Amino acid sequence: MTSTLYRGRLLSFRRAPRDAHDHDSYLFEEDGGLLVENGMIVAMGDFQAVRADAADDVEVIDHRPHLILPGLIDTHVHFPQMQVIGSYAANLLEWLDTYTFPEECRFVETAHATRIATQFFDEFFRQGTTTAVAYCSVHKASADAFFAESLKRGSLMIAGKVMMDRGAPQGLLDTAQIGYDETRQVIADWHGRGRNHVAITPRFAITSTPEQMGAAQTLAREFPDLYIQTHLSENRDEIAYTCSLYPDAADYTDIYDRYGLLGQKSLFGHAIHLSEREADALSDSGSVLVHCPTSNLFLGSGLFPMRTYQRRDKPLRIAVATDIGGGTSYSMLKTLDEAYKIQQLLGERLNPLESAYMMTRGNAEALSLEDRIGTLEPGTDADFIVVDSAATPAMKLRMETVRSIGEELFLLQALGDDRAIAETYVAGRPMKSVAGGTD
Ligand code: GUN
Ligand code: ZN
Repeated sequence: MTSTLYRGRLLSFRRAPRDAHDHDSYLFEEDGGLLVENGMIVAMGDFQAVRADAADDVEVIDHRPHLILPGLIDTHVHFPQMQVIGSYAANLLEWLDTYTFPEECRFVETAHATRIATQFFDEFFRQGTTTAVAYCSVHKASADAFFAESLKRGSLMIAGKVMMDRGAPQGLLDTAQIGYDETRQVIADWHGRGRNHVAITPRFAITSTPEQMGAAQTLAREFPDLYIQTHLSENRDEIAYTCSLYPDAADYTDIYDRYGLLGQKSLFGHAIHLSEREADALSDSGSVLVHCPTSNLFLGSGLFPMRTYQRRDKPLRIAVATDIGGGTSYSMLKTLDEAYKIQQLLGERLNPLESAYMMTRGNAEALSLEDRIGTLEPGTDADFIVVDSAATPAMKLRMETVRSIGEELFLLQALGDDRAIAETYVAGRPMKSVAGGTD
């Protein structure tokens, strides 16, 4: 049995913080010990106490003075969009047609999908993100490449072959039947292999015919435990066009509702412009809205009314994500920095504890996976990161005046990025310092 004890300043959330002073919401160990055996966390607490209970010959890796946090979780990304990040477009639909759809056509080539999958995992681990919820392309080969790489690295990933049978170039279309058959095949090939989860992934209502939405509904019925991911109410023109394609539906949300796609494992990307009726339906079903701040600002889609959604009589579940490549940063630190600024523009506050909670335990709860990832609790998977809050000269200087963990987290969010991630461990194996994640 391999047993390693990591020493550092440990931070792990127990629940959502109520405000910036809710110190009971998290555990912070100034001189902490995290004991890892066979890819699992087996003990966590004061270093000397954990050391005393561990085997005499346990290997100790000293990461002081750095922080040790749970691995970051990104709940909405597009794996085939790494090479269109920062493409100049007026809005969502222009961006999709001009850059994104042509780019995704390239993933028909297995060699290309395999190459980008390697890059994807290298980059996400470099950024401290250990779990991502990803859209592959329409091609089954892209899902195969993604899951094969995840299996190799030992990571917990959620991904799906995109279903889309209209409204895009021919090279990016399946059919209702092919989308169904290939999704079933991806499930058979990959779901539950290693730590992989498959998501049913109709891209959005614009690119799926009613027949294909029906196929997604059949899959959801046949595999009720699977995640479902799609896009909802990102942009005003998108909403108007979508509703014109489904004239019988009451609104955009109702389209998905009619096909049985709302539920506790359903993830709706963006969801910026919702009516009260839609918000009620999403809340009643326990669906999750995925806020993608850098993407919403970059594409000019709108300001996500997070507090309004949370304060409702029927509150909404909210996750946060990069939305690479509509999003402009791989870093969850930068993503929460932009989320903060969006709330500032709306006259609301997003406190540093809450931001740190959202990118770890909060996103894990949104995925109903907090018993596996998102914390440093014993019994969970050993996905964790080592964070250097003085990684750059500017951060080092600012750290001289930092007086609390809350201030430090806020500094990390404001000035930090991949440079602040000193190491990333996936199932107890170092992934940042070791190219390709092999040791
Ligand atoms: N809506 C449908 N597809 C996409 C996509 O790839 N990115 C974003 N931001 N929105 C979408
Ligand atoms: Zn998206």
